[in-house]
Amino acid sequence: MSKCRVCRGPAIIDLPRHNANFCADHLQQLCRRQVEKAIADHEMLEPGERVLVAVSGGKDSLAVWDLLVELGYAADGVYVGLGIGEYSDVSGRYAQEFAAARGLTLHTVDLRHDHGYDVPTAARATRRVPCSACGLSKRHLFDAAARNGGYDVVATGHNLDDEAAVLLGNTLRWDVDYLARQMPALPGGKGFPRKVKPLVRLTERETAAWCIVRGIDYQVEECPMAAGNRHLGYKQTLNALEARSPGAKASFYLGFVDRMAPLLASRSRAAADALNACATCGSPTSGEVCAFCRLVAVASAHEPVPVQMIGRSRR
Ligand code: FES
Ligand code: ZN
Ligand code: ZN
Repeated sequence: MSKCRVCRGPAIIDLPRHNANFCADHLQQLCRRQVEKAIADHEMLEPGERVLVAVSGGKDSLAVWDLLVELGYAADGVYVGLGIGEYSDVSGRYAQEFAAARGLTLHTVDLRHDHGYDVPTAARATRRVPCSACGLSKRHLFDAAARNGGYDVVATGHNLDDEAAVLLGNTLRWDVDYLARQMPALPGGKGFPRKVKPLVRLTERETAAWCIVRGIDYQVEECPMAAGNRHLGYKQTLNALEARSPGAKASFYLGFVDRMAPLLASRSRAAADALNACATCGSPTSGEVCAFCRLVAVASAHEPVPVQMIGRSRR
């Protein structure tokens, strides 16, 4: 039986990138410290600020909510029901149960009920991959919920694996505008709340372990509409690299944040300066009507498409 690096008690997890094993208590200590470091390094949150956590019901968003509350932040959640069949029903239930068990406030938005469409229907209506309507809807609704609720900042559960995979994709395409926005904290302004990713120093495996030792039940299924997307391929590629050289993933992403991203900062400021208010909803946009309002117009006019139909037409 391997031993915890800190207390020599029985270890529950080995973390090759730290070249060590940890018991349940010291795994929690490690997670807390990594989150505190991310928050401090990137000036993510000030004491007393109101934080809105974007909650999906998966491990990362519940872990970040739990960690922020643990660290003493006033954090409420917001859940967006995407209408992806049973997957969404189960995800929503995990989010509700987490909040109820801890007496936390969870706001909910339902795409079908509140905006007249769901992700499968939007995918069909726009003839694009489901993740594009999904991501656009979530970003818009999280921002709107923060504005309407008077929150200072939106926190998401993106972890090191997510950010490294997105970075690999953006780098392979040399997508400089996206690279310029790939910071763990993005300033607010012009109608956008500040956005922070407190889990960027933790891997997927570490956030899953956090949930297990904390007794957090979460949606373990991957979204059925994300199957085969490029993002998952990038994660596998990085995992293969990480297996050969532990720490490669962290140095790829965290090295980018430290050394490359500052060189791109002026570029992301220029993009933010070019925004005005959407004629329909008032959200910041570079056009006349924002992308969300255009999506709502197209998707809510389309007859509802069940989730299975999208799966079949794509494979
Ligand atoms: Fe967005 Fe699956 S969670 S398409
Ligand atoms: Zn220990
Ligand atoms: Zn709009």
